[in-house]
Amino acid sequence: PIEVSHGQKMDSRDQENLLDRTAQGIISTPMDRPDGPLKVSGTATYADEDHPPGTVFGWLVRATVAKGWVTGFNTGELRDMPGVLAVIRDERMIRNPAQGGAGKAPYQGPAEIFYKGQPVALIVAETFEQARDAALAARPEYLDQSDKATLTPDGAEYETPPEQQQSQGDLDQAMRDAAFSVDVEYSTPSMSHAAMEPHAAVAWWQDGRLTVRGSYQMLHTNAQELADSLGLDIKKVRVLSQYVGGGFGSKLGISHEAVAAAIAAQKLNRPVAVALHRRQVFETTTRRSESRQRVRLACDAQGRMTGVGHEVWVSNLPDESFSEPVTQSTSFTWAGENRVIGHHIGRLNLTAAGSMRAPGEAIGVPVTEAAMDELAEAAGLDPVEFRLRNIPETDPSTGKPFSNHRLADCIRRGAESFGWSRRPKQPGSLRQGEWLIGMGMSAIIRVHMMGPSSARVTLNPDGSALVETDMTDIGTGSYSILTQIAAEMLGLPPDRVTTMLGDSDLPASAGSGGSQGAGSAGSAVMMAAKAVRQKLAERMECDPDEMTLKDGIAIAANRRRGLAEILAGDTLQGTGTIQKGQTYQDTRQASWGAEFCEVAVSSVTGEVQIRRLTGVFAAGRILNAKTARSQCLGGMIFGIGQALLESVQTDPRDGGFVNRDLAEYHVPANLDVPDIEIELLMDDRDAYSNPMQAKGIGELATCGTAGAIVNAIANATGHRFRHFPITLDKVL
Ligand code: MOS
Repeated sequence: PIEVSHGQKMDSRDQENLLDRTAQGIISTPMDRPDGPLKVSGTATYADEDHPPGTVFGWLVRATVAKGWVTGFNTGELRDMPGVLAVIRDERMIRNPAQGGAGKAPYQGPAEIFYKGQPVALIVAETFEQARDAALAARPEYLDQSDKATLTPDGAEYETPPEQQQSQGDLDQAMRDAAFSVDVEYSTPSMSHAAMEPHAAVAWWQDGRLTVRGSYQMLHTNAQELADSLGLDIKKVRVLSQYVGGGFGSKLGISHEAVAAAIAAQKLNRPVAVALHRRQVFETTTRRSESRQRVRLACDAQGRMTGVGHEVWVSNLPDESFSEPVTQSTSFTWAGENRVIGHHIGRLNLTAAGSMRAPGEAIGVPVTEAAMDELAEAAGLDPVEFRLRNIPETDPSTGKPFSNHRLADCIRRGAESFGWSRRPKQPGSLRQGEWLIGMGMSAIIRVHMMGPSSARVTLNPDGSALVETDMTDIGTGSYSILTQIAAEMLGLPPDRVTTMLGDSDLPASAGSGGSQGAGSAGSAVMMAAKAVRQKLAERMECDPDEMTLKDGIAIAANRRRGLAEILAGDTLQGTGTIQKGQTYQDTRQASWGAEFCEVAVSSVTGEVQIRRLTGVFAAGRILNAKTARSQCLGGMIFGIGQALLESVQTDPRDGGFVNRDLAEYHVPANLDVPDIEIELLMDDRDAYSNPMQAKGIGELATCGTAGAIVNAIANATGHRFRHFPITLDKVL
C-alpha cells in the first residue's frame, strides 16, 4: 500500500470544521449499528463463547475471610479429583489488577488476603463442571486477622491527601454572612456495575506469545497490564475483545480471570477458559465506593452564590491509589468566591473500589444538585431561576475560560419542553388520590477528557474502505460512529466501510473509558482519513479543500472521477493520530445537560413512581443521533437505579456481599422506567476538544439524574431524603 499519515495535537482551537463541509451526509445521522444484526441474531461472539480446540476450564477459589493469610490448602486431594489438571496458587494471580491503570495494590505474596472474595487459587479441569466440583471441594485454611473496624466505613481510618484538598476565600465566613445557606450531609451506597456479560477470559500461547480473548474496555492498557502481571514485553501479549456485553468501568482493567487463565494456559500448554459467575463479578472485580458528602452552600439576599463547600469520604482497599473523585466538577459548576473541597479516603478490607460509569460526577452531582435545590427553596427562588443566576463566566476555581458552556441553554430548553411552569410551588400540595405529585430538576455536568489514539484507514483499489483501531465497542456504538466518520471523510456510503475493532494488535486507542472513546478514537480515524483525502486530492490535482467526495466519486472544479479510477489499482493506507495539547491546559472542558423529573409518591406504600423524565444534552458534535440518544437513555435509567434501587449491602461481620446477583441487587426493570424524552443540542460544537468538535456523552446523562429525582420527591412530599437509594422504608 501507499502509506500516508496525519497527526494532530490539540494545541489550538480547531478552525477547520471539516465535518461541516463534507458532502456524504452520514455523520450525525441516526444510522443503524453495523454490528446490530450480529448481536440480535446471537452470532456476535463474546469472550467465552468460542473455545479453541483443546480448551480446558478454570474456576477461581476465593477467600472466605476478609483479612489474613492462607496457611494450608488441600491441593493433593483436589488433584486426585476427576478431570483435575492443575491446582494453581500463583502470586501473580492474587493481587488485584482490576484498576484500569488507575493504581495497583503492591504485590503482597501468594497467601495474604485483603477482602472476602479475593482469589486464592485456580482449579483447572478437563470440563467446566469438573473444575467447579473441585473448587467447591477446596478447603483453604486461614489465619483469620479480620478486623470489624475495617469492614464498614464508620470504623475506617481516613487519609486526607494534601493534593486532593482545595480552598479559596473564607467559606466559614461566607456561611456566617450569607442571607441563605445550607449545610447538609448526604450519603450514597456502594454499587456494582452488574454488566450483562460477566467477566471471562480465554487464554492460549503460541510460540511464546500470549493471546487472551476477554471482555475488556481498553485493550492497549489491558495488554500492558497483562504484560506487567506476567513479566512479559507487551509485544508478547495480544488481547481480543471484539464484542463486550457492557463494562461500565468494571472492565477498564483486566481482572483476575485474565491473569489466571494466562498462567494456567502456559503451565498446561493448552487453551484455558476462566469465566466468572455473577457472584464472583460482584465480589471479586470492583465496586463503586460508598460516599458520605457534606455540602455547604451560601448565597446573598438576591440568590447570588457566595460559597461552595463539598467534602467527601470514600473508601478503597489499603494501598489502592484510585479513589472516587466525587468533587470532580464541583470546582467549576456554580459561582461563588469562597470554596472548599475536601477528599478523604478510608481504608477498608472490602472488594476494591474502582471506576464505575462517570466516577465522580455520577454520585457527586446528584448530591450537590439536591443541596442546590435546598438552597433555592431556602432563598424562596425557583430552582431553575436560582441556577441560571449562578452560572459562572469562567471556571471559578482557576479563572480559566470554558471551551464552551451550554448549561443555561440545556436548562431553558428542558424547562420549556418539560412544562416546568406547572411545577407545584408548594411542596406536598399536589395530590391525586393516594399519590403525591412533584417535579424536580438537576443540572447535568461531566468533565470532558481525551486520550492519545491512533487508527488506520485503508482505501482499497475497489473504492471500499477498512477502518482499524484497538478501540472497543462496549455497547456504546463505536462500530457505528467510526464507520460514519470514515464514510463521511472519504465520501463513501457506510456499507462500503468495514470497521475492525477489539484487537490490541491494531493501532492503539484510548479505548472505552471516561467518555473519551468517541472523541479520541474517532479523531484518530478522522486524521487517518484526512491523510487519505490529501493523497486523493494530489491525484485529482486539486487542493483537498476544493475536492468533494460523495458516493465513491471525487469532484473538483469540473472534473468527476470514481475512487477506483483514481486509485488505478493502488491501495492507500492512512495512519492518523490525535493527542491532547494546550487547549486542555488553557480551557475548562465539560459536557452539559439538564434533567427534569415528575414523580408520584404513594402515601400508602411509600412507592416512588417516576412518571416523566426529560433530558437535554450538549456534548459538542453528535456523531450518531441514535447511539448518542441510547447512551443518554441508558445513563438516565442508570440514575433511576441510583436514586431508588441500587445498593450493595455488606455483612458487617466479614465484609461479604449480601446481595450479589441480579435477583437481590436491584436495577431498574421495564416498569420502573417511564417514557424518557431526550433532546440533543445538534448545533453544539466545541472547537477546543478535538478536530471533530465532539465531546463525551457516554457518562453524561447519569451525572445528576438521581438529583432530579430526589428533588422531585421533595417537591411531592415536602421531605428531603438525603440517603440514597430512596427505598420504600425510608419514604414511609
Ligand atoms: Mo468508565 S467508569 O471510564 O467505563
